[in-house]
Amino acid sequence: MLVGINGTPTECSPRPGQCLRTLLRDHAHFEVKKGCDAGDCGACSVLVDGEPVHSCIFPAFRAVDRQVTTVAGLGTPEDLHPVQRRFVEAGGFQCGFCTAGMVVTASTLDDETDLPRDDLAQKLKGNLCRCTGYRSIADAVHGVVNTEKVTDGPSSGRSLSAPAATRIVTGTEDYTLDITPAGLLHASVLGSPHPHARVVSIDTSVAEALPGVRLVLTSADSPDRLFSTARHEQRTDDPDDTRVIDTVMRFKGQRVAVVVGETLADAEAGCRALVVEYEVLPAVFDPAAASLPGAPLVHADKGQESRIADPSRNLVAELHGGTGDVDAAVADADAVVTGRFTTQRIQHVHLETHGTIGWMDDSGRLTLRTSTQVPFLVRNEICEIFGLRPDRVRVFTARVGGGFGGKQELLTEDIVALAVLRTGSPVQFEFTRGDEFTVSPCRHPFQVDVTVAGTADGVLTALAVDVVTDAGAYGNHSPGVMFHGCGESVAVYRCANKRVDAKSVYTNNIPSGAFRGYGLGQVIFAVESAIDDLARDLDIDPFEFRRRNVVVPGDPLVAAHVEGDDLMFGSYGLDQCLDLAERALREGNGVGAPPGWKVGEGMAIAMIATIPPRGHFAEVTVSLGREGTYEIGIGTAEFGNGTTTVHTQIAATELATSPDRIVVRQSDTDSATYDTGAFGSAGTVVAGKALLAAVLLLSERIRGVAASAFGVAPEACILGPEGVHCEDRFMSLPDVLADAGGTLTASGDSGGVPRSLAFNVHAFRVAVEESTGTVRILQSIQSADAGTVMNPQQCRGQVEGGVAQGIGSALYEEIQTDGAGTVVTDSIRSYHVPQFADIPPTEVYFADTYDQLGPFGAKSMSESPYNPVAPALANAIKDAIGSRLHALPLSSDRVWRSLDG
Ligand code: FES
Repeated sequence: MLVGINGTPTECSPRPGQCLRTLLRDHAHFEVKKGCDAGDCGACSVLVDGEPVHSCIFPAFRAVDRQVTTVAGLGTPEDLHPVQRRFVEAGGFQCGFCTAGMVVTASTLDDETDLPRDDLAQKLKGNLCRCTGYRSIADAVHGVVNTEKVTDGPSSGRSLSAPAATRIVTGTEDYTLDITPAGLLHASVLGSPHPHARVVSIDTSVAEALPGVRLVLTSADSPDRLFSTARHEQRTDDPDDTRVIDTVMRFKGQRVAVVVGETLADAEAGCRALVVEYEVLPAVFDPAAASLPGAPLVHADKGQESRIADPSRNLVAELHGGTGDVDAAVADADAVVTGRFTTQRIQHVHLETHGTIGWMDDSGRLTLRTSTQVPFLVRNEICEIFGLRPDRVRVFTARVGGGFGGKQELLTEDIVALAVLRTGSPVQFEFTRGDEFTVSPCRHPFQVDVTVAGTADGVLTALAVDVVTDAGAYGNHSPGVMFHGCGESVAVYRCANKRVDAKSVYTNNIPSGAFRGYGLGQVIFAVESAIDDLARDLDIDPFEFRRRNVVVPGDPLVAAHVEGDDLMFGSYGLDQCLDLAERALREGNGVGAPPGWKVGEGMAIAMIATIPPRGHFAEVTVSLGREGTYEIGIGTAEFGNGTTTVHTQIAATELATSPDRIVVRQSDTDSATYDTGAFGSAGTVVAGKALLAAVLLLSERIRGVAASAFGVAPEACILGPEGVHCEDRFMSLPDVLADAGGTLTASGDSGGVPRSLAFNVHAFRVAVEESTGTVRILQSIQSADAGTVMNPQQCRGQVEGGVAQGIGSALYEEIQTDGAGTVVTDSIRSYHVPQFADIPPTEVYFADTYDQLGPFGAKSMSESPYNPVAPALANAIKDAIGSRLHALPLSSDRVWRSLDG
């Protein structure tokens, strides 16, 4: 049977039940991405006889004798389709995993560059983007040019296009699973049907006898090494409470056994054939109940070596501290606000699911190609778990299809490593979209009791938070999220009396983990809501109340655990951010309210450390190449945060060359010395600083070679794109390299301290329909202090993407469970990821600051834009309807019920 694929008649044999996407990927059309398997995300979009379809739900046999066009059939990096070119020029992507499908659908709108936004939203409703917030995608369709082609002059500070841009828009950029090594086996996991149970026995005999099943792994095959799936520079930051395959199941879906088959279907059939006997144990799903005496214990078997604060109380970690006397300040205050705020479970929904392919290389070395933000930390932990030397394990990434913190976990690599070590064959393990919702760590649900108090003249005199977080079944990231959540959220206010109490509690729910903002967003929702109510009670404008009470340079940074030693104001732009957001709100751009709807305005602030605490290291090398090019070896991963672009800009600027002469080799334990990984925007400020040190040194060495050849002082020599000018003499870069003996390399490092602070202020004008509780955003504004904005288009995109994710999780996103450990929102459709139509445009403004600590004065700006969104929305809704909502999401039914109350 023939299917026309990109104009080529292709012999195909569609299998019963096979979808077109699988058929296309089986024929190495890896440009067709797998995002959901349910027709929800559009990453697999292709044209069939010119009509866009979701190929994951399009039966393969229906493509026989028809013409299928993938994104690669539209154009090539050398000969772009007009729509592909417009996506490059608009910067219409970040991680790029949605882009192949998005471009295919947009190609049907090639002649509609004046399409109204509502119509465009309708046309693109089947294509989700989790990164961009859709503005740049709309720009791409409309032919707006946001990026510059930089051929001369310094590239830093300009909107340089991403180096991978043409590959991304043509589908030729490889992601993790876009290869098929010969003899590739597939792993599938049998998940526990119980939230708490002991595995009594597993009969593997039937499964092992099935054709195509190559291996069954149970707890008997698991290394007896406890570890945490969370990865940090200090591995002791997280409790060691996890085994590759355990005998005790602590949440529904936890691995009971793994089957490795010749095909995924073989492996899944093997899982179905396993016979498991369980001893069901009592379970607990509420952190308050889990904290009571006599509650079921989730990790009763763990000793001190696991570093759990108190397994006999299900306590992962706790924090208590403060300054002054909160109770006395409350007693003396003119106004006091107290309230209990709760936040929900959220999923990252990076469009590329977690996945790993592993094999033994020619030297017998374990090699893992994996979708991770932290390749070096994964390498180190795989070595810990399996007792291997670091030089016997290589971990690397292709481009990572989104992360948002979800890929700071080791979730698929350990199974693949075990399977490869046992079989000697290449093995792939990939999370389904359902796995992402049911077993992949989610955002921690928080309960935050807040007390704030102030005097009539607008001075904040007391700030206290009492926080409980639900760690779920494992403590991965839970101590860090709890500590961080109670850090800058409290430290941002100058207040003489502060108290912080916090604890993170084990339950038999799905594990919680790292997510954009790392706990800050949850506590900021509570604090900024309460502060807003306090300002209203004192009859002071909310912007003005913040101006009077936020920390400024010279103030100490005080929370329960924020030590000032390595955290300081490398620059300060919160004042500018307040002014910018207020001015934009007063100008009142945006859309009008429907007749009869209540209108309100609200704002909130957020502060964040630019680098994670307790160590973040980067070591970078830069080499001069033979053709006057430069090669950077850098460890951090690119997952849509744009660090590759920024690194190219830093190097091109200091080496006085054009960006196209910079080659970045990254996120590979073989090609870089070390990097803690892509946490927040550490790639810009930590790896960027290490890179800057390296390129400055290399520039000096290059000039030194020419100076010594010409017998002049190095200061007399200037590095240019083609070579070194020393007064009236010139030495080309190839000659410099030859003179240096054929290699000229420099390295730089950064220890990640001291750390600076970045700021975000968000403001909304909203309308609320009282009869339904529907909230409509009329105007959305975010001002950000990112220090020097290295790439305005890219940085604006990070802000817009963070705001879009913030709006989704503030208004409707929620992983819902049945209260007994079962996730019921296990698909994109039931969970509701924001579509194009859901996200309003956001006005983005940058403060004009220069950070003393960051490279070129830059600060991080990836995760923090998310943090003030939910409280700003809640404050605007309060302004509109007079009711304070204390729980996220701020769904229409919650808004309506608050009106009713
Ligand atoms: Fe759209 Fe990442 S760029 S999902």
